[in-house]
Amino acid sequence: MQTILVLGGTGKTGRRVVTRLHERDLPVRVGSRSGDPAFDWEDPATWAPALQGVGAVYVSYYPDLAVPGAPEAVGAFARLAVDSGARRLVLLSGRGEEEAQAAERALIDSGADWTILRAAWFDQNFSENYLLEPVLAGHVVLPAGDVAEPFVDADDIADVAVAALTEDGHSGQIYELTGPRLLTFADAVAAIAAASGREIGYTRVSPEDYAGALAAEGVPADVIDLLIYLFTTVLDGRNASLGDGVRRALGRSPRDFADYAREVAATGIWKAADA
Ligand SMILES: NC(=O)c1ccc[n+]([C@@H]2O[C@H](COP(=O)([O-])OP(=O)(O)OC[C@H]3O[C@@H](n4cnc5c(N)ncnc54)[C@H](OP(=O)(O)O)[C@@H]3O)[C@@H](O)[C@H]2O)c1
Repeated sequence: MQTILVLGGTGKTGRRVVTRLHERDLPVRVGSRSGDPAFDWEDPATWAPALQGVGAVYVSYYPDLAVPGAPEAVGAFARLAVDSGARRLVLLSGRGEEEAQAAERALIDSGADWTILRAAWFDQNFSENYLLEPVLAGHVVLPAGDVAEPFVDADDIADVAVAALTEDGHSGQIYELTGPRLLTFADAVAAIAAASGREIGYTRVSPEDYAGALAAEGVPADVIDLLIYLFTTVLDGRNASLGDGVRRALGRSPRDFADYAREVAATGIWKAADA
């Protein structure tokens, strides 16, 4: 079996893909700036060494397929991967994002055996990303109101990715990966509060006020632009529906947000700083 390269292999989904492949004793290489050899999306000279001896790649782009230059980078990487002998490419994409779909097309045009994973917002944004801090502070403030989102568990994404990387039958599939239920951001925060036995407030603000608050905290302008795009354009209701990708790929239901919240609460990471 040739090596499986996992881009973003230290991140939320990639780390879980790496763990599952190790558990199956499959040869794995982590593709990230801290990998060996290092892989950097911003330095194409690092791509060929990471692709040496590789038969399949989990392609997770950073920071987001919606940023300028992403489709070109993904397309160039996919062509190089195919030229280097990698047949199977599994792309982590986003739902309802035109820009992400341009990257999907660029990867498909490489001629690889492709699988696209169009994922909803990850549950793990509340425990492994930028929403952890406000949860710990006991008050989440976001420009998100009544529009519901079918949050998906990164463990489900990793299970589907591993199936697509290692089994036949997933080539040419676009899997819409969502959880089993629609929740508003306020619902999600309430579920975390219930699971962790804490009071956690939720306040909706305007995108302008949110951007202003982030700027005051010193968040870089490109990150602010990306977050505003995600909370306005992508969270405008276009994705307020369930996808069937987990069931189609794995033959089982996706994990519910409440189960995620219970499991993370049990680890203690949501305990308030002063508890
Ligand atoms: N978060 C969500 O809710 C969500 C939903 C749908 C789709 N997505 C997609 O998921 C992808 C990953 O986003 P994420 O926020 O979840 O990040 P993530 O995968 O949790 O973390 C980032 C990963 O990328 C690596 N990385 C960072 N900069 C890099 C660079 N310049 N070159 C190569 N690797 C780099 C990091 O490792 P090193 O630091 O070692 O380089 C780490 O492994 C994005 O394409 C996003 O569109 C996310």
